[in-house]
Amino acid sequence: MNRSAPEFLYQQVIDFVEKQAKNGALRPGDKLPSLRKLGQQFGISVPTVKQAYVELERQGTISARPQSGYYLNAKHARTLQPMRAKWAQCQPVEVSCRSLIEQVYDAVHVPGTTALGISNPVNAHPPDKTLARLMRTVLTRTAEKAVSYGPVNGDPKLRLTLALRYQELGVDVNHHDMVITNGAQEALSIALQCVANKGDIIAVESPCYFGLIELIESLEMKALEVYTCTEDGVCIDELEKVLNNHPVKACLFATAINNPLGSFMPESGRQRLVKLLESRDIPLIEDDVYSDLYLTENRPVPAQYYSEKGLVMTCSSFSKTAAPGYRVGWLIPGKFEETAKRIKRAQSCSTSMLQQWTLTDYLLSGDYDRHLHVLRKILRYNRERMIDLIAKHFPPETCISMPQGGSVLWVRCRSVVDTSYIFRQAISHGISFAPGQIFSPSGKYQHYMRISFGVKWSDDIDKAIEKLGELVCAYTATNSERVQQ
Ligand SMILES: Cc1ncc(COP(=O)(O)O)c(C=O)c1O
Repeated sequence: MNRSAPEFLYQQVIDFVEKQAKNGALRPGDKLPSLRKLGQQFGISVPTVKQAYVELERQGTISARPQSGYYLNAKHARTLQPMRAKWAQCQPVEVSCRSLIEQVYDAVHVPGTTALGISNPVNAHPPDKTLARLMRTVLTRTAEKAVSYGPVNGDPKLRLTLALRYQELGVDVNHHDMVITNGAQEALSIALQCVANKGDIIAVESPCYFGLIELIESLEMKALEVYTCTEDGVCIDELEKVLNNHPVKACLFATAINNPLGSFMPESGRQRLVKLLESRDIPLIEDDVYSDLYLTENRPVPAQYYSEKGLVMTCSSFSKTAAPGYRVGWLIPGKFEETAKRIKRAQSCSTSMLQQWTLTDYLLSGDYDRHLHVLRKILRYNRERMIDLIAKHFPPETCISMPQGGSVLWVRCRSVVDTSYIFRQAISHGISFAPGQIFSPSGKYQHYMRISFGVKWSDDIDKAIEKLGELVCAYTATNSERVQQ
């Protein structure tokens, strides 16, 4: 610090942080030195450093995280804003976008591919060693029971442990009603079959997770898109209009954190949503897989909490938090408990017990919560780094979401860009992402792409984003010219 310089000391701290960010010594997502440490380093008081940090926070350069410290934000990114223009209401559609979805899945398993197309946050911090150790203990303990059939609705201890976790959130869940499933996807499938039949209209968010679209397609139901805001999730005013115009049989929404938007529905929104649907006797199937990956301060409370008529069915799993390969999920079926168990029995009989026991021990040991804490921290860091990289390499008009949960970014390119075309080019360069089109039953979002930041960071990620940026820039330049001619 130069005490005789004309600038205030706090301004010199600001200059120091900005310089560190500029020369790469501090990268987006990095934690800044604590107030005390920087104060000691420069021989200045803690309030002076604090004044600098508060100013940097006001400018949007850094963010404070409660009980953690200050972190450097991604710079220069244009944040995707909620749509201001009027949303033209959609019609129900029979869906079909299988081939592109298949290619996205296939790309995950091609050796050497930088897979940014599938949302697998566990990649960022896999708990494989702890789970392997627990599974070995379980195998020794359970002996031949491990190869037998388990109860249709799953291990009672796992159900009880999960129910207690919901009760801690204030949700009154009875573990006898719960059904353990093969991932959230089976829970969603059972829930849909409990309340709707072939040809029925299911309201979904727009954009929404492509697995839901495929599920609706396979059950020969119709999907009806409802405008979903980048910040607050599904738009309830819009939903009300949709319900007035169409005989919607059920709603299938990520009531807390949407994939691909990373939007976060506020508590009041969830309450209003349940009230609206239950007043019309319309079941709500809530897809809650991302709720433990909140990047805000607190975990969202499931919409189940607000249900008075038992019309809310909650679906979740360990796939986004611990082990997608274990295929363990669950369904809280509301008043459809008997039907749900019957469908589970008919559909898959039971879920592998070995994985259920291992995950029960994981939960009870406290390791799961410790793991979640670290995973969320890494995801926050990755989010900033990924936003920064995209902002650096993509054309300047690119807009990027600021997800409040989950592990993906929703990126909007110029409207001339066809991201399905770029997807095919990227695959040939050993890079995958998810083209926007697969997130809409009617094929909207052609100029959007979903990029996962649930990754183990390496130089390959930096190179992949640089290459993707190159492809988008080249496509935009060529096709903008064509449009202008
Ligand atoms: C929003 C959403 N719902 C459900 C699922 C399916 O979860 P599971 O792997 O537990 O079946 C996914 C998986 O990507 C998802 O992103």
